[in-house]
Amino acid sequence: MQQTLTLRRPDDWHLHLRDGAMLEGVLPETARHFARAIIMPNLVPPVVTGDHARAYRDRILAALPEGMAFEPLMTLYLTEGTDAADVRAAAESGLVKAVKLYPAGATTNSHGGVRDFDKVRGVLETMAEIGLPLCIHGEVTTPEVDIFDREAVFIDTVLDPLRRANPGLRVVMEHITTEQGVAYARSGTDLAATITTHHLVINRNHILVGGIKPHYYCLPVAKREQHRLALREAAMSGDATFFLGTDSAPHVDALKEHACGCAGCFTATNTMSVLAEVFEQDGKLDRLEGFASLHGPAFYRLPVNEATITLTKGAPVEYPTKIETGAGPVTVFDPGFPLHWTVK
Ligand code: NCD
Ligand code: ZN
Repeated sequence: MQQTLTLRRPDDWHLHLRDGAMLEGVLPETARHFARAIIMPNLVPPVVTGDHARAYRDRILAALPEGMAFEPLMTLYLTEGTDAADVRAAAESGLVKAVKLYPAGATTNSHGGVRDFDKVRGVLETMAEIGLPLCIHGEVTTPEVDIFDREAVFIDTVLDPLRRANPGLRVVMEHITTEQGVAYARSGTDLAATITTHHLVINRNHILVGGIKPHYYCLPVAKREQHRLALREAAMSGDATFFLGTDSAPHVDALKEHACGCAGCFTATNTMSVLAEVFEQDGKLDRLEGFASLHGPAFYRLPVNEATITLTKGAPVEYPTKIETGAGPVTVFDPGFPLHWTVK
């Protein structure tokens, strides 16, 4: 039986770090294991311009504890007023690695997102020209569409037309949750998809059966078991289309355990342990390095990390149920099974 596993240091291709006291509290949880992360721009107010991104990167680096190495890969929040020249300058300086598209109203702090895709045509043309990826939150927000269908409907009615209208645009389907997402990601060029840790573990029953579990509620919401199985197959297939984006999204417990609870699972603390367990359950531990450390840099055209991490297997590891931050306690994702792998 395999007892150790050494991988190139992983990266997280979709991460929420927030700002201020929350940033200080959660940043070490990611930097402990991950070399780099694509930093989501949905702050209040959002990170819209190159100047905003530079200032946010500086706040992240200032919050990094002494002795930890971590590189934030910055993104811009696409609005109908985004200036193509600013995007180009921010990308060409090396500061910004992607632009994030939130359909207006789709998720936490997305009200400034895009309603009319014609208004962002110039920005998308520039991005296609310079090869800057567009990270897409792929859910329609139409009230008539059932929340469990919003990803599949988005693919047909928004994503596919958008890609046809913008040939050469490099797209990352963020945090896919459905078999339709897996199939579409496989079908195209200049196309990739991130998969979260928690969507490999939970289906919608975990949220709703036996009492409502607010800490399993995130967006896109977890779907039926058949979809979870499709995500596991994709993540462990070795196909470089698919890579890790944890979407670790901290909210304080008071706002999760609430009559109108916030969406987001906080997985930064135990993600590598959970992933190793899940890949081992399916007999695919040898595919973990591709998913967590190799496929992402390949799509983003960045070098892989030279450093490594080693996981060891032993008696179940106990993680704290919560981490304390200056903003309040944040509950750590509970996969619901023992975790035997730990990062040395
Ligand atoms: C994210 C957040 O809280 O910022 N929430 C979530 O459920 N994933 C936003 C997002 O990525 O949709
Ligand atoms: Zn997210």
